This record gives sequence, C-alpha cells and structure tokens, in this order.
Amino acid sequence: MELDNIRNKWKNSDFNKKASVDLWDCMAPSFNKFTVPTVEDSQFLKLILDNNMINSNSQVLDVGCGSGKYSMALSNLCESIIGIDLSPKMIENANNNKEIYKASNAKFYCEDWSNFDLSKHGFSTRFDLVFAHMTPAINSAETFEKLSKASKKYCVLCKPTRRSDPVSEKVKELVGINKNKESCDMDIVYAFEMLWLQGYEPKVEYEKQVWNMEKTLEEAFGLYINRVKSYKDITLEEEKIIKKYLESICKDGIVVEKVNTTIATIYWQV
Ligand SMILES: C[S@@+](CC[C@H](N)C(=O)[O-])C[C@H]1O[C@@H](n2cnc3c(N)ncnc32)[C@H](O)[C@@H]1O
Repeated sequence: MELDNIRNKWKNSDFNKKASVDLWDCMAPSFNKFTVPTVEDSQFLKLILDNNMINSNSQVLDVGCGSGKYSMALSNLCESIIGIDLSPKMIENANNNKEIYKASNAKFYCEDWSNFDLSKHGFSTRFDLVFAHMTPAINSAETFEKLSKASKKYCVLCKPTRRSDPVSEKVKELVGINKNKESCDMDIVYAFEMLWLQGYEPKVEYEKQVWNMEKTLEEAFGLYINRVKSYKDITLEEEKIIKKYLESICKDGIVVEKVNTTIATIYWQV
C-alpha cells in the first residue's frame, strides 16, 4: 500500500475532545494508584534499557503520559523528560507525583497531541527518545508520524491489540456501536506499514496481559458512558439504558471486568 493510501485510511475524524477529556479526567484517580514500574516488572522499561535507548544525556518525550507513571520510572535515567496529556486531572496528578518522587527534571503540560504543533513548541527532532505508552493520543497517521518527527533517535509505541472488554462491548452493543476501538489491531498494522515504507526497520514485541478491573458504580458510569460518548453522541434515554445495565451487573457496589489483551510494542530508530 502507498503511504498516502494509509494516510487517507488511518484517520480519526470522529475524535470528540470533550468526551475524551471527561473520560480521562474521570479515570485519573484510578490511574494515580500506581507503584513506579521497574525493569523487573515492566517489559516496556526492559525493552528501553535492553536496547540502550536512554542515558544520562537523553531528552525524553512521554506522549499521553497520564499521571506520569513511566516518566517517574525514567526520570533518573535521563537528563530531562517532558510528559504531555490531554486531561487536566492527569497532569495535576503528574505534577504532584513529580514532587512526591523528586523527579525535578520532569515537566508536564496539558496538551492535545492531535493538534499539538511540534515546531511552535520547538519539539521537532528534539528528543532522543519519544514514547507513547497505551494512549489513544496515537490514533491516526498524522498523530503517529509526529512521534518520528519529534525524535532524533528512538521511538516506541505500545498499544493494546486483540483485546476483549466484555462489559464495554455489551455497553456499546446497547447503543448500536459495533466497532471495537479499544483494540488497536489496525493501528499496529498501519504503523508498521508506514515505517516500513518510509525506510525504517521497525521491530515488534508482544506480551499477553489480563486486567482484572474493578470500578465503583460511579466510576463505571464515568468510564463506560464517556467512552461511548467519545465514539458518538448518545441520548439521555440511551444513557439511562447503560446505567441500568451497569447497575444490573454491579455486585457489592463494584463492577468487575476482565480484559484480555496482547500488548504490541513497536519500536524503531529514525
Ligand atoms: C491509558 S492512559 C495511559 C497513561 C500512561 N501513558 C500510562 O501508560 O500509564 C491514556 C492517556 O492518554 C491520554 N490521551 C488521550 N488522548 C490524548 C491526546 N489526544 N493527547 C494527549 N493525551 C491523550 C489520556 O488523557 C490518558 O491519560
């Protein structure tokens, strides 16, 4: 396939910024309950270290950084790290974590990667390592190509693929959505193909994961309703139907969902 064909196909034209901000603001408290990952427990960190992608002179960019979990893990291995995220609440938590974990070389900015102007911010070919870990910030050819444009050396993209989310799938079915956007299978295909056609030599690694997610009913309303709204507008009636379904599966105040996925990590040198 030609590069321009992929650019035409891999688009995220129905991106709803407000619903995405609401969704991730609402997820911020649960994303802030983390222990800083280490090489022993994170294949992602191991991959970065094993491939010598970072050293004490490196400038690093963490796209869709959330509460800064991976920025915290990498801050003492590099000269500086910048995290950007769409959600003000995630960025607020990342700034608090910077104090807690004494990551004085980390900076966090609330920005939407989909309209982030690299040259205006002086980000073009600035970073030794650019990574995007499990973030929908990379959801189109345009947002993907920006990773390479910001980097002068290494890039890493991690995406959940072959993913099944039983509760989310039922919720979407209730309001007539049949696409599974949580599973980023085609993103990985397009990403690999684009890199290949651009003359890079991308590598891919896989890791099977099972997430046992537990949410209070309020958190579940926030997650599933905002997720659906980030795909399409829904009526108040549809919102009520989703709430009724979530109440019906809620046990002792908790909605449980077991997500199965294969994390695909694609990495390349620009
Ligand atoms: C699943 S969380 C992952 C957070 C972090 N990378 C990690 O692995 O712990 C996804 C993050 O991507 C952010 N995000 C989604 N769309 C974005 C966009 N267009 N620009 C920047 N960040 C975005 C969300 O706000 C959220 O914090």
